Amino acid sequence: MSSESKQPPAAPDGAAGMSKGLTSYGDAGFSLFLRKAFIKGAGFTDRALDRPVIGIANTGSAYNPCHGNAPQLIEALKRGILMAGGLPMEFPTMSIHESFAAPTSMYLRNLMSMDTEELIRAQPMDAVVLIGGCDKTVPAQLMGAASAGLPAIVLITGSMLTGSHRSERVGACTDCRRYWARFRAGEIDAGEVADVNNQLVASVGTCSVMGTASTMACIAEALGMTVPGGASPPAVTADRMRVAEQTGVEAVALARSRLGIDRILTDKAFENAMRVLLAIGGSTNGIVHLTAIAGRMGYAIDLKALDRMGRETPVLLDLKPSGQHYMEDFHHAGGMATLLRELKPLLHLDALTVTGRTLGEEIERAGPGFAQAVVRPLGDPIFREGGIAVLEGNLAPGGAIIKQSAANPGLMEHEGRAVVFENAADLAARIDAPDLDVAADDILVLKNIGPKGAPGMPEAGYLPIPQKLARAGVKDMVRISDGRMSGTAFGTIVLHVTPESAVGGPLAYVRTGDRIRLSVAARRLELLVADEELVHRSRVHPVVPPVAERGYRRLFLEQVMQADHGVDFAFLRPATARGTIPARKQQKGT
Ligand code: FES
Repeated sequence: MSSESKQPPAAPDGAAGMSKGLTSYGDAGFSLFLRKAFIKGAGFTDRALDRPVIGIANTGSAYNPCHGNAPQLIEALKRGILMAGGLPMEFPTMSIHESFAAPTSMYLRNLMSMDTEELIRAQPMDAVVLIGGCDKTVPAQLMGAASAGLPAIVLITGSMLTGSHRSERVGACTDCRRYWARFRAGEIDAGEVADVNNQLVASVGTCSVMGTASTMACIAEALGMTVPGGASPPAVTADRMRVAEQTGVEAVALARSRLGIDRILTDKAFENAMRVLLAIGGSTNGIVHLTAIAGRMGYAIDLKALDRMGRETPVLLDLKPSGQHYMEDFHHAGGMATLLRELKPLLHLDALTVTGRTLGEEIERAGPGFAQAVVRPLGDPIFREGGIAVLEGNLAPGGAIIKQSAANPGLMEHEGRAVVFENAADLAARIDAPDLDVAADDILVLKNIGPKGAPGMPEAGYLPIPQKLARAGVKDMVRISDGRMSGTAFGTIVLHVTPESAVGGPLAYVRTGDRIRLSVAARRLELLVADEELVHRSRVHPVVPPVAERGYRRLFLEQVMQADHGVDFAFLRPATARGTIPARKQQKGT
């Protein structure tokens, strides 16, 4: 490199913009000189480089149609950043789509969080915009940004539009599952299932129901990490582009005020997010992700407290799979402002948001509500209790969960005979066998789909109804596993059984023919087998946890924690714990 030009000033300590995080050459002045020389090769002027630098984590990918509007979002975002006097700097990160990640997207979430964290850390920026949407992307980005500690703001890609199949409104992916179940049951033929395949995803954007993506969008707004109204506009609308532009403006303000993410992601913000998760009938995955994000800030989510909060937090949002509407209807009904206005008595209104204003101030700024039919009033909910119940018992000493708002009321108090599948391959091989010994009141049990078992805790907890029962008209059965299920799914399904079977949790020792009792009212999940017998089984057939020889799989298996710790990697947690959420002294509404 030539050094014949004027010597630039040495980068000062506590530098901002392009002077941040200089590459180590042993001479800070030279490092900045070199950096500027290279960026000027892309046509930048000193005037541009003096502005606050706003990093844009671009998760656009041909493998991720849920982020298919990323180019348009980035254009609007850059407009906002430039309008506010910042310098947009776009950079690629990993992107994960639910249907394009093997063995499961969850296996890659922590890797994406590491990618995001290290790129935020390594590259010069004063604030970062995180473009996320599909299920694992928003949690991965929030986990990474929480660990990086820089001012950050989330830009949601937005939901897809709904489609129409033979005059019936359809959307991914509750209707995907419903039509596939009808096909399995012989109610529709191969021609119709191919037809509906063209209509289920009517545009780019995230799933159109209250699945994990919509849940995490609402949680991001409830945490104060998006601009007001950032959760609900569909991906292809003008409203979504305006949110992008406004996000750019706010990102520059964040950079100037140096409002760190630690002042947004507080215990009060996480408690607000728990309330919202319950009130929207949110995805069960939301608990895992929220636990992981809170964990990065040093907080533990108290699952028993979540259950207590659930008993007093009704489901207000009438969206599939718990209700009947879609995300675009929620947006037309006013989006999160309408929901938060109803939830006000249960929220910490003094929690700070990325705008620098409190959540309460943002609710006031949104103005009065209007007549609509998607968000119910507190006094007339669609489900009396929160969507998610936390279960305990000898089958799940570390807890398990059930999405009661999407379950069959007739099965929530149920005792039945276990029909056990050892792993996903065993399930696939036998579930439709004509000679499978199974009856409608049996309980289907699937092992080895937990964090280490699969690995990656896939969304295989939505076990299909055995074909011979489906054809006889059986629509739901109690199903139990250590895995997860898609937020778009429905049924009486117990998930996240902890500890998982692959590490020797009691689930590992369940056998076909054992009796299991589920009581959602008592929050119990009991294996009706004597303790001595379980000890005997564990001695005769001890569990050997899975290992891997090398690479990411080895890191994953060595580091991944159980569902009650958010399935995060142990080494990514901060050294200092800050406490439990909700803190008893501050909990609202109890
Ligand atoms: Fe991306 Fe559903 S597959 S949000």
